[in-house]
Amino acid sequence: MRTLKKLFFIVLALLIIVIGGFFALTHQPAIEPAAQPAAGSFAPQLIDKGKLLAAMGDCAVCHTAPGGTKNTGGLPIASPFGTIYTTNITPDAETGIGGWSYEAFERAMRHGVNRDGQYLYPAFPYTSFTRVSDEDMKALYAYLMTQPAVKHQLPKTELKFPFNIRPGIAAWNWMYLKKGPLPEDTTKPPEWNRGAYIAEGLGHCSACHSPRDQFAGEKGGSEKFAGSTLDGWSVPALTSKTSAPMPWTADDLYAYFKHGFSPRHGSAAGPMAPVIHGLSQQSDADLKALSSYIMSFKDANAQSGDAEAFVAGKFKEPKFAIDHEGYRLFEGACASCHSDASGVKDSMFGVRPQLALNTNLYSDSPNNAALVILNGIQEAATPTTGTMPAFRHNLSDAQIATLLNTMREQYGLKPWSDLPAQVGKLRRDTAPGATRLSAH
Ligand code: HEC
Ligand code: HEC
Ligand code: HEC
Repeated sequence: MRTLKKLFFIVLALLIIVIGGFFALTHQPAIEPAAQPAAGSFAPQLIDKGKLLAAMGDCAVCHTAPGGTKNTGGLPIASPFGTIYTTNITPDAETGIGGWSYEAFERAMRHGVNRDGQYLYPAFPYTSFTRVSDEDMKALYAYLMTQPAVKHQLPKTELKFPFNIRPGIAAWNWMYLKKGPLPEDTTKPPEWNRGAYIAEGLGHCSACHSPRDQFAGEKGGSEKFAGSTLDGWSVPALTSKTSAPMPWTADDLYAYFKHGFSPRHGSAAGPMAPVIHGLSQQSDADLKALSSYIMSFKDANAQSGDAEAFVAGKFKEPKFAIDHEGYRLFEGACASCHSDASGVKDSMFGVRPQLALNTNLYSDSPNNAALVILNGIQEAATPTTGTMPAFRHNLSDAQIATLLNTMREQYGLKPWSDLPAQVGKLRRDTAPGATRLSAH
């Protein structure tokens, strides 16, 4: 009995040492509040540059709640462990980052630790932002600190035990946070390196486009950019694993980043639309650099191919009689804007995506196509792409399923299985008032 008791105390003592040591090792000091830098202390060019960089980093996309004031935070991001709320990044001293020195800002962006010394959840993509150069980081700081300060008290992020113990994030960082600038690849041209800097840094493309492992860390190697899921959306692969029916070219990517639309592939909707909104403002040189970097993950030998001929080929053999239900639904609800088989043209309703070329119709997952039909495209990525009406109230789950599988068959693809049930699930999950489905 005595030895057992002794053992118990030894184990307890060891545990205290280990936990205490862990806390001591992970301890980050608070950084004293600093006086708000005077607006005149930053050059106007630096502030302008920071504004463009903030668009590239989608800061306002995450740091603005629906209907809220820009950058005042409060957007709920659902995770399996609870809801994480984004923070107020306006320079309000009490509820925002008003008292933050550059040192404190830089620590949050590169190391994921806030001014108080608390570890931040990786729903904030600091694993990418750690790559941002000093020059760009200073411009971002100058921009944020010179915006209007808005007081906005936020709901508190309270995750379930043990995820509420923020020092635990230090262990996650140890596995997944590779601090510092991206090493330059001298075997590649400067354009490629510039593209890598954008994609791996502020662009945080891999946060959505790379699959995650069991600890929610981004997978690398051959899994990098291999596709993932987000809020019910299937995030397509950017690699040769793509389901795009025609290979992407650097010009296609450039058009997609600049206008949110590639006539040979389709448009940017869902979570990609705000990303394009930020990208479309960047310089042509940067968008070409980004295209060149993303192209290097694709099959270099693929022939670009003739899109017109491809579409014509898909319709050479009409698979359905004119009174087939799927065909009638398409003619009635969709053909006015998506007149497939008639070539790659623009229409009076913004762009006219050829669905026979759309990645989403060829994907293993019906989700993106079904979500677009249910909810429409209310906010265009850029003014040129236009919007699409929602069919939630006009078409039943069965009708949407028939419509989609009719298109799939016409394009020579296997029908999606169990489709009416999946459309029904997506309809419920995205009904007005439903909470967001899943986190990054
Ligand atoms: C994908 C969503 C997302 C994007 C994009 C994003 N953030 Fe955040 N950010 C968050 C979340 C979530 C938190 C809070 C994390 C937590 O509470 O642990 C956060 C926290 C922060 C913090 C710490 C604030 C505090 O009070 O603790 C700063 C500073 C910050 N973000 C700045 C930025 C900047 C600058 C950009 C753009 C370059 C940006 N964020 C883009 C999600 C995002
Ligand atoms: C917030 C999540 C998110 C981020 C960040 C993001 N993407 Fe996307 N991306 C998506 C989703 C979702 C789609 C599918 C959109 C659709 O079907 O309309 C997509 C589609 C694409 C496509 C079209 C693929 C195809 O075959 O149709 C390209 C190319 C792309 N993204 C590139 C990028 C690049 C480059 C970046 C970084 C600068 C990036 N994405 C950042 C979510 C994201
Ligand atoms: C009033 C015109 C209009 C009608 C009617 C319409 N669409 Fe669209 N659709 C568009 C436009 C414009 C876009 C691209 C918008 C954007 O991305 O900003 C689009 C995009 C799409 C996309 C691609 C989304 C993506 O992320 O790549 C699909 C799939 C789609 N529509 C299917 C349909 C189907 C099926 C119907 C019939 C039920 C239909 N649309 C009816 C205008 C329309």
